[in-house]
Amino acid sequence: MAELDQEEQAPVLDEKTAAEYILKANRNVIHDICKEYELSEEDYRNVKDALMVEINNGLCKYTHNKATVKCLLTHVQSVPTGCEKGKYLALDLGGTKFRVIYLQMDDLAVKECFMTYQIRPELLIGPARDLFDFFAECLSNFIYSHQLENVEIPLGFTFSFPVKQVSIDKGVLVAWSKGFSCPGVVGRDVVALLNEAIERRGDMLVRVVAIVNDTTGTLMSTAWKYHNTKIGLIVGTGTNACYMEKTKNISMYDGDILAPAVMIINTEWSGLGDNGVLEGIRTKHDRVVDSESTNPKAHLFEKMISGMYLGEVARLLIIECIESGALLNGVISDAISQPKSFPTSFVSEIDRANEDCDILVAKTVLNSLGYSAPSDADCENLQHICSTVIIRSASLVGAALACLIDRIGDPYVTIGADGSLYRLNKSYHRRILATARKLTRPEHKYDLIPSEDGSGRGAALIAAIVSKNA
Ligand code: BGC
Repeated sequence: MAELDQEEQAPVLDEKTAAEYILKANRNVIHDICKEYELSEEDYRNVKDALMVEINNGLCKYTHNKATVKCLLTHVQSVPTGCEKGKYLALDLGGTKFRVIYLQMDDLAVKECFMTYQIRPELLIGPARDLFDFFAECLSNFIYSHQLENVEIPLGFTFSFPVKQVSIDKGVLVAWSKGFSCPGVVGRDVVALLNEAIERRGDMLVRVVAIVNDTTGTLMSTAWKYHNTKIGLIVGTGTNACYMEKTKNISMYDGDILAPAVMIINTEWSGLGDNGVLEGIRTKHDRVVDSESTNPKAHLFEKMISGMYLGEVARLLIIECIESGALLNGVISDAISQPKSFPTSFVSEIDRANEDCDILVAKTVLNSLGYSAPSDADCENLQHICSTVIIRSASLVGAALACLIDRIGDPYVTIGADGSLYRLNKSYHRRILATARKLTRPEHKYDLIPSEDGSGRGAALIAAIVSKNA
């Protein structure tokens, strides 16, 4: 009995050892909570394989309608030669910003100027006419401020949403994503809507010659310099990739048999998982982010990866860690309890600083969220949380790229990449490659290259190719 009593007594620790013990215990709890985000090589391989199945479904005319990865035809069947010349306009609607770009191309030299316009939040959900009138207004503002009003300039429209194209200049919106939900656009040709808005103003000589997804623009602008480019990747507000597919594999394409042997396919891989194939790896936070989005049950892959959602995923994970008592003394500040108070830029910047072993960024962010004196341990734990979320995002992209690289099957391909999350986090590139390398067949070599303004230059290049063929 006496012996038992002795065993039950907690060891008496000195103050320093006790403090260290608590720090270690807290760290272990945080690392344990984050484990849900640390996927195994097998998990990533399953993602690669699932994407392969869904792409086959998307390309096949019998399964296309039900496919979650839509594999949309782009009608772009050649890449630039590098000799494109002329003056072009491009419009770029990607996330919350809208850009008008003017490009003058001359033998591998490009002069480019652009203006960026912020889209008012009410336009994202208001009537279609208001949104397209806004685009036309920005275009007119740009044209007059650059004295281009008397020249007829071909325009490429980068519209970064899923669009079913029947030709290079006709595209019907399949669904909105990334916070847009304007009624009256799904099911309609967005080029026609833009042309109508331009005509309503009647003050411009513009010819819309092509509608382009941002991934296609990225592939084209990279191919302009690197002729082996066969994949275009975007990881920004949303995520997606396009790739060169052999037309003989696209059974839903019933085009001319004399048509070129390849076509760029816009995979719309954001929809992977919409039929449940990713349920084994989605977390409870992924599910909350999805149910509170403007498009629940859709684009589930994108919601685990891209800038529109990652901040909120991280915030929910942080709150779980605080509630466990292991972070920030268990105190949830008013600021951090507000949805969207932890944008993806925080996650990315804290992760970057983590790579450089610098806790100052985490400290500043915590200060801005109402924590006046976070401990170093809290900052380090926050860094761990942010890095975990970013690593999962980049690794999922790596797994999906491995699928496209093996599918193309060439000994060597170049991949053009763009998007804010990819560009602004210097480790993202390396992390994509770390996973892709593990999953790609060894005989398939590749390079990942940051593209130069895919959405602007790529659309202009397509406009150039189309105008030449017209
Ligand atoms: C859209 C894609 C786009 C991607 C990246 C997704 O939400 O559906 O069309 O390419 O975002 O901008």
